[in-house]
Amino acid sequence: MIPEPDVDMMADESSELIHTQIVKKDPSKLRLKPNLLGYEDLRTTFRWSDAEKMVDWFPGGKINAAYNAVDRHALGKRKDKVALIYDDGEGNFSKLTFDQLYRQTNKFANVLKKIGVKRQDRVFFFLSRSPALYIGFLGAIKYGAIASPMFPAFGPDGIKDRMLDSGAVAIVTDGELKKRVYEVVKDLPELKHIIVTGKEVAQNEVSLDTEMAEASDQFEATHMDPEEFSYMLYTSGTTGKPKGVVHAHKDIVQMHLSTYWVLDVHEEDVYWCTADLGWVTGVVYGVLGPWSNGVTQVGLGGRFDPERWYKTIQSYKVSVWYTAPTAVRMLMAKGDDLPNKYDLSSLRALYSVGEPLNPEGVKWALDVFDSKPFHDTWWQTETGSILITNFPEMDIKPGSMGKPLPGIEAAIVDENGKPLGQGEEGHLCIRPGWPAMMRQIWKNPAKYNEYFRNGWYYTGDTAQTDEDGYFWYVGRADDVIKTAGERVGPFEVESALIEHPAVAEAGVIGKPDEIRGNIIKAFIVLTPGYTESDALKTDIQKFVKSKLAGHAYPREIDVVKNLPKTRSGKIMRRLLRARELGLPIGDTSTLED
Ligand code: WTA
Repeated sequence: MIPEPDVDMMADESSELIHTQIVKKDPSKLRLKPNLLGYEDLRTTFRWSDAEKMVDWFPGGKINAAYNAVDRHALGKRKDKVALIYDDGEGNFSKLTFDQLYRQTNKFANVLKKIGVKRQDRVFFFLSRSPALYIGFLGAIKYGAIASPMFPAFGPDGIKDRMLDSGAVAIVTDGELKKRVYEVVKDLPELKHIIVTGKEVAQNEVSLDTEMAEASDQFEATHMDPEEFSYMLYTSGTTGKPKGVVHAHKDIVQMHLSTYWVLDVHEEDVYWCTADLGWVTGVVYGVLGPWSNGVTQVGLGGRFDPERWYKTIQSYKVSVWYTAPTAVRMLMAKGDDLPNKYDLSSLRALYSVGEPLNPEGVKWALDVFDSKPFHDTWWQTETGSILITNFPEMDIKPGSMGKPLPGIEAAIVDENGKPLGQGEEGHLCIRPGWPAMMRQIWKNPAKYNEYFRNGWYYTGDTAQTDEDGYFWYVGRADDVIKTAGERVGPFEVESALIEHPAVAEAGVIGKPDEIRGNIIKAFIVLTPGYTESDALKTDIQKFVKSKLAGHAYPREIDVVKNLPKTRSGKIMRRLLRARELGLPIGDTSTLED
């Protein structure tokens, strides 16, 4: 039951919760006029060619995403505007203007040039969040390399899988994280340059600080074909190793537009995206989209900490905030006294992505953030941009992902591509061809083609629509696990598990969890000679963490005698999940015995 808000408190506000639990909006009462007004009309009148005019092009139809995010502002009226307020999480902060960001990214591009990196070479980043990460990532794109940031939580196997598959020639890392790179460096024959920040730089490495100090701060952004690649990120599917999702420079058109329309940034805003750069949200809405719009961004280092988060909003007067449901749930769990201690009145719009946002989260925000609701947004690494969302001018139905971006055709369809009616559950599909759509799965055209069937792009999610055209998330159509917003493939975890000497076989599922959305749960068969114990389980967990990634280890492990398999030997995760959750077992005709 959602209580009525205090109407007096809402004098200056735009959101109102009514009995049907819809968050009613009155755009005329919003603090700033939304950039998108008249959604229904725009859905018919909008053309992508309109959005192409919002970014800068070079002669001959060439473009550069980083030029749009940095150079055009530095060379124009936003030269001295603050682009980045960076807080290291320990109370130290620094600021970079667009002009400074321009010069620094130019320097980085010149460093790549000097060491001999070539156009469209893969340059990886294995760095904690820091100004160097933003500068390197943008500088690499400006130069014409394909930039790829990795989560600092990755273990040696996580690093190796990505860098080997992509044939990365360079990695930018720091004195601490480089140790994990060296564990697999012998397996990376194409890796030529290890670029290290800070003072502890070995002979065979490139000192980023030294090279940056010497490099010229002038560089003309490389004129790229719109279809040339700008960044790539590895993401998990059901089977096999993570796959390299590759994006093009032209994505900037939709990054720009979606940031403008959905996140609704205005010239005077202070915008904060909490996502790490290892996640697509950090790349698209923590770097390129907002800076293409010339907005001041906050970057916060360190780990998640509720007090620090509220303090960040208060200190830098954050007005637009983009975060994730797990973080929202963690903040909720901390109680309402904590936010009440801070002045959070600068906030005017809140957004969330990555997992279903519970209606309770929307409601909680209304209570705690002075009648401002969270706006849920839906998209994927592959889509490269928000595609389905709640817009500032639109009423919110808590629990719904909202409606498609103008220019996007989304539908619920069956296995054969037949559109389903309102209220019917089916595959969430998008008509291919939007500007930010992935261009490739690196060196794996077969995997790429699997996404496209019957004239649709199949997202791997299931959903349904309601009578007003709102989309409602149902679940994944595959075994991919979303834990605390991170996408984890069960196969990767199973592969890491069976490398442990005590594990003979492993099956991995996502188990619903109140805070994290899902946790990773493993069922293992022990190698003969080993006996089950808590110490052994802890050891197995540590093992997976150190190999794969800090977030991709099983928080629960059950030892079982055998795993349900198909006759062809495939582990039936569906069955493991059904058993765990007490759900109907369904069709077992392919079961081994
Ligand atoms: C899930 C994240 C429910 C979904 C930008 C999708 C969501 C996957 C939402 C992509 C949402 C993302 N509601 N589920 N608003 N947003 N998802 O590639 O399953 O990390 O397919 O990109 O996250 O995850 P990815």
